[in-house]
Formats: sequence, C-alpha cells, structure tokens
Amino acid sequence: MKMRLPKAGTIEVVPSILDADFARLADEIAAVEAAGVNMVHLDVMDGHFVPNITIGPPVIAKLRKVSRLVFDSHLMISEPARYAEHFIEAGVNHITFHIEAIDEPKKLIGELHEQGVTAGICLNPKTPVEAINDVAPLCDMVLVMTVEPGFGGQKFMPEAAKKIVAIRKMVGPGIRIEVDGGIDSQTAPIVVSYGADTLVAGHAIFSKPDRAAAINAIREAYGQRA
Ligand code: DX5
Ligand code: ZN
Repeated sequence: MKMRLPKAGTIEVVPSILDADFARLADEIAAVEAAGVNMVHLDVMDGHFVPNITIGPPVIAKLRKVSRLVFDSHLMISEPARYAEHFIEAGVNHITFHIEAIDEPKKLIGELHEQGVTAGICLNPKTPVEAINDVAPLCDMVLVMTVEPGFGGQKFMPEAAKKIVAIRKMVGPGIRIEVDGGIDSQTAPIVVSYGADTLVAGHAIFSKPDRAAAINAIREAYGQRA
C-alpha cells in the first residue's frame, strides 16, 4: 500500500520530530505511531532560508526503513526545486515548500505530482494570504506558520492563525490546511475552529514523557475521543 496524505475530512495530529531525541529517532517515531497517528512531520532546515540546520535526505532514508507513517516533509530551505527529488528518493510522501523561497511554485507543484508525491505550499506569519492565491488550489495541503520558522517551542502567533479562515474560504473543503508552531491543547481548538485539519505539534508532544498521552490531550482538546 502506498502511503498517501489522508483525504481531507479528518483531523490529524502530526508530531514534528524537531523536539524529539535525535539519538533515538526510530523509537520516538514508533512511540507516536503507537498512539495512532497517520503522519509524521519532518522539519528540514538549511541554515540559509532559516537560521537553523536539521536533517536531510540521508537521515530520512534511514527513517523510511523503520516507519510506515506518511512522511510529511516541510522544506525550510532555499531552492526547494533543486533538492526535491533527493527527498522523494529518500522516501517522503509529501513535500511542503515555502512561497517565500521560490519564483516558480506552480512548476514545482507539477513536478512533485509527476513524481508521485503530494504538494504543499507554506506561508510565513508575515506573508499575506494573497501570495498563494494562484498556487493554493493546485496543492494538496496549505501550511500556515504560526511561529517564525526555525525553532520548536516558540509562542503561538494568534494573528497569523487568523489567516486560516481566509485560506479555508479560498480552497474549499477538499484541500488540507496544516498549521505549524505553538500548537498544544490550548491552541488546537482555536485553529480547528478556523478551519485547520492538520495540526503539527513538536514541543507539546516531545517535551512530555508520555508521547501518546500528549497526543491524546490535544485530540481531546478539539473534541476527538482518544
Ligand atoms: C518550526 C517548525 C515546526 C516546529 C513546531 O520552524 O516548522 O514544525 O517543530 O514546533 P512546536 O510545536 O514546538 O512549535
Ligand atoms: Zn514544520
């Protein structure tokens, strides 16, 4: 069975491994998989587009061998079109890239689809919704940043989250809206009420000793029974 982004219509909690124990990544992913998540969020940073450096294709290829979760990669890198195929070869199922990092977003979306992965466009907190007017309808998922990208554990930006309302109007019910940054049991219900259905959480899950309990606390907060 090919791992695909779940069809729109469900709410998914998507653990970001940025705050996981990088010395024990396979165990960390197994722990969230045991909690019944369908996807895991892989934050790729290049020290150029954002002031931090994380993981790349070699690490992802090894993780691919130990997990059947949908790999939701979030490329916080300059020149995403240049590197996309390396991430696909490593085994990601979905690639989100930043509208601020590319001149020809439509071309890359087409290439991603041709290569059998789903495509996402991401906008930073200060980037207006209009920047993705032409591009969002071509995507499988839109990613709304509610912190400045680069680091886990930052404070949720309520004004950035409000853009979800306009984006939901723009794309209709068939495209996922993912939200990333400062999501926990307090903020999850807010972004779900705005129309988000894909909730990335790093610190709120991996700073807690019991990862499954942390995931269930977020689910309960927006009304999904554990
Ligand atoms: C930040 C990353 C996020 C980060 C979220 O640049 O894109 O995915 O891991 O972390 P929390 O949930 O801790 O804000
Ligand atoms: Zn992310």
